[in-house]
Amino acid sequence: MIRDLDRTLIDRDAIASRVRELGRRIAGDLERSLAAEGASPDEAGRIAIISVMTGALIFTADLVREMPLKLSLELVTVSSYPGASTMSKGAAMRSVLPKDLKGKHVLIVDDILDSGQTLDLVKRLVAEQAPASVRICVLLRKLVPRVVEIAADYVGFDIPNEFVVGYGLDYDNYYRNHPEIAVLRAPAGGGA
Ligand code: IMP
Ligand code: MG
Repeated sequence: MIRDLDRTLIDRDAIASRVRELGRRIAGDLERSLAAEGASPDEAGRIAIISVMTGALIFTADLVREMPLKLSLELVTVSSYPGASTMSKGAAMRSVLPKDLKGKHVLIVDDILDSGQTLDLVKRLVAEQAPASVRICVLLRKLVPRVVEIAADYVGFDIPNEFVVGYGLDYDNYYRNHPEIAVLRAPAGGGA
């Protein structure tokens, strides 16, 4: 284990099996939404996945490979924890959203639901384009009060209020490559 990491919270096998379950469930729900409109699962231009960079990179890569549907994959960059910080500082868009979401079933994918500000921002911007539906999927949901009221439709794991890294999640842009969800050792000298 990388020396800065304290302990594993969720190991590789647990992540892999949960991601597989989520992918299948989401794909089934999307397929049903299309069927309700008389559309087939391989109709072009109906499903857009919006992955929130950079934290959701690895999760999204695994998740979409469990979804046997015709979908497009879009990336947005939102910054909320700039640099060496473990406290949310609000969310800001650092890239533009795709402009063609009207009438599509949109799935927003993020690594973690914490204060809720990131997903609230992205969801509001997506909703402005009149998509057919907007769903939110997060790998992790922190059991903390949200700063803004926002619910995820699909959650991999609920976790306690600890700062975690790995499987895409970072501290100061490090540890994203660690294959498990791990708790970071408290930085020497206290505050981050
Ligand atoms: P929110 O806007 O406060 O909900 O924060 C969401 C974003 O903050 C996530 O997309 C993560 O990038 C980041 N974040 C929140 N908690 C953690 C954590 O424990 N470890 C790493 N990143 C986190
Ligand atoms: Mg993030």
